[in-house]
Amino acid sequence: MTNAPDVAAPNTSDIYQPSAEIVEQANVTAYMRQKGLSSYDELHRWSLENNEAFWSDMANELEWYQPWDKVLDDSNKPFFKWFTGAKTNIVHNAIDRHLKTWRKNKLALIWEGEDGEQRSYSYFSLNIEVSKIANVLKSMGVKKGDVVTIYMPRIPELMFSMLACAKIGAAHSVVYGGFSEAALADRLADAKSKVLITADGGFMRNKVIELKKIVDEALARTPTVQTCLVFKRAGNAVEMVQGRDLWMHDLLNLPIANSSCPTEEMDAEDMLFILYTSGTTGKPKGVVHTHGGYQVGTSTTLKYVFDVKDEDRYWCAADPGWITGHSFIVYAPLILGATSIMYEGAPNYPYPDRWWQIVARTGVTVLYTAPTAIRGLMRFGELWPSRHDMSSLRLLGSVGEPINPEAWRWFYQVIGGERCPIMDTWWQTETGHFMITPTPVMPLKPGSATKAFLGIEVDVVHEDGTPCEPNEDGLLVIKRPWPGMMRTVLNDPQRYVDTYWARLPDMYAAGDSARKDEDGYIWVIGRLDDVIKVSGYRLGTAEVESALVSHPAVAEAAAIGLPHEVKGNAIHAFVMLRSGFEGSHELEEKLRAHVGHELGPIARPDSITFTLSLPKTRSGKIMRRVLKARALGQPEGDISTLEE
Ligand code: WT7
Repeated sequence: MTNAPDVAAPNTSDIYQPSAEIVEQANVTAYMRQKGLSSYDELHRWSLENNEAFWSDMANELEWYQPWDKVLDDSNKPFFKWFTGAKTNIVHNAIDRHLKTWRKNKLALIWEGEDGEQRSYSYFSLNIEVSKIANVLKSMGVKKGDVVTIYMPRIPELMFSMLACAKIGAAHSVVYGGFSEAALADRLADAKSKVLITADGGFMRNKVIELKKIVDEALARTPTVQTCLVFKRAGNAVEMVQGRDLWMHDLLNLPIANSSCPTEEMDAEDMLFILYTSGTTGKPKGVVHTHGGYQVGTSTTLKYVFDVKDEDRYWCAADPGWITGHSFIVYAPLILGATSIMYEGAPNYPYPDRWWQIVARTGVTVLYTAPTAIRGLMRFGELWPSRHDMSSLRLLGSVGEPINPEAWRWFYQVIGGERCPIMDTWWQTETGHFMITPTPVMPLKPGSATKAFLGIEVDVVHEDGTPCEPNEDGLLVIKRPWPGMMRTVLNDPQRYVDTYWARLPDMYAAGDSARKDEDGYIWVIGRLDDVIKVSGYRLGTAEVESALVSHPAVAEAAAIGLPHEVKGNAIHAFVMLRSGFEGSHELEEKLRAHVGHELGPIARPDSITFTLSLPKTRSGKIMRRVLKARALGQPEGDISTLEE
């Protein structure tokens, strides 16, 4: 265990004002003037009082095949529907409509491989790539309503495959390429995918991650997949199973892979994608998002928060396999007709200035990343960034966990040259887009995600739903629906109700604790449930525990998160062994490797303690809180329910 990052505490004296130039040119300033209002707070109030008018303003910036009857349908709470009656397809807004304008020739994507390979795609060529894959999928029998699982490295074909599914009305379920076989198998089985798109392998720190091998193991565990389409990236040897596996490059050369493909007309509420995320139980939740509301929410938040304009070169350095990538690498930037950067590999490969080199060489204007990456790069010192001209940058962003003020200041000073406001965006897989976030016009306090976005109403409340006093810890809630909200949990609507809406009447409980200071700024503290944020990735303790228990030596296990300098939290596991096994350093290494193999490297515990018992409640639930307190040498708190 190493030192914890300093936790953000409300600090009202440390305030960063945006420059007059940034305020003047901000998209949100233009919108404020259009509404005849003179402050952001006034605009926010207006957007709540006229919520449907606000969201229909936003929706009117997009094209629809057929307009909506209703902006919000709340007749079956909490199963809210948005833009009902409308016909649309997110791909129409992300690609098709740009082809009718000069943006047809604009770069949509600039991609850089870890090995230095570079490729770029205009909107015109993006359309061809997507259409060809769409036609291949159709020829495999994929149709509207099917779920295609995608398991890929960070290459342009990942984006193309997602868009190809959406174009023909199939939902995609992207499983992050860093997950391993059990995680992939579970997600394939839950989504009942018949088609899987993958690649031979991907590069990370000059090592080949053999994705196809992991796929083969996962497919041995789950029987639904009939067709596995394989892109070639790393050139590693793979085994192609006859009748199941097909090379994409072969298919894309066949006449079936025509470069034109009509975009399927969808209902606004039709499913766009499923994305699995960790929760309190071991089974990951399939979060469902739809075409209509999601395209409005994601494009609106990107436009007003990162202020994306035609001149920008926008880089969201996440992986498309997470919600950040879905919303803010793939869909929102394309809807806005932006030029995006995507980089395949590690930030410090071959040297710790790889990112800064990319910023300088491609003229990045907006850089959106995570606190864990900032802390990781900060360790290498200022010399690395100082070698590069990063004067193109004008806005920075952070997401995934609270950003500690020390990392905030480094990002602001060293990377942003004290010019670039930092947009600390709080949101979730479930929310689809930013909920609490500054816009460029707002004064910033390092460590606070500031206030709710336009049209969004958030609060910090007690267990009974009454608002907390300033600076009092409470539950973070969202008090009204929003267009990009998740619609349900796939195959388990009751879990959607129970997890988010059952705790407090008419409020969405985010599962985070927070406090609000006297200026109304929100300070997110962290998760309240058994979710650990490791390097910004969301992992359920239960997932790690079941991976451990699947090893023959383990009888029982408990996982907790302990503070870590770079990762924010690191996983520490307590393990009770079966009789006949003895704890040793070798066994610890074996168990760590086992979890890595089952779930993926990010889930590998940092350390394991062998123990003869675990603290449990009388009803048999492991008290992770007690384990954590013991590990940190803190008081154990209320242990009245602890079993003797
Ligand atoms: C959880 C959601 C949404 C993209 C990435 C994470 C934490 C996220 C912030 C932030 C403090 C944050 C919360 C939230 N979180 N952004 N700016 N400040 N905490 O999505 O994996 O669904 O995780 O991440 O705890 O509940 P996710």
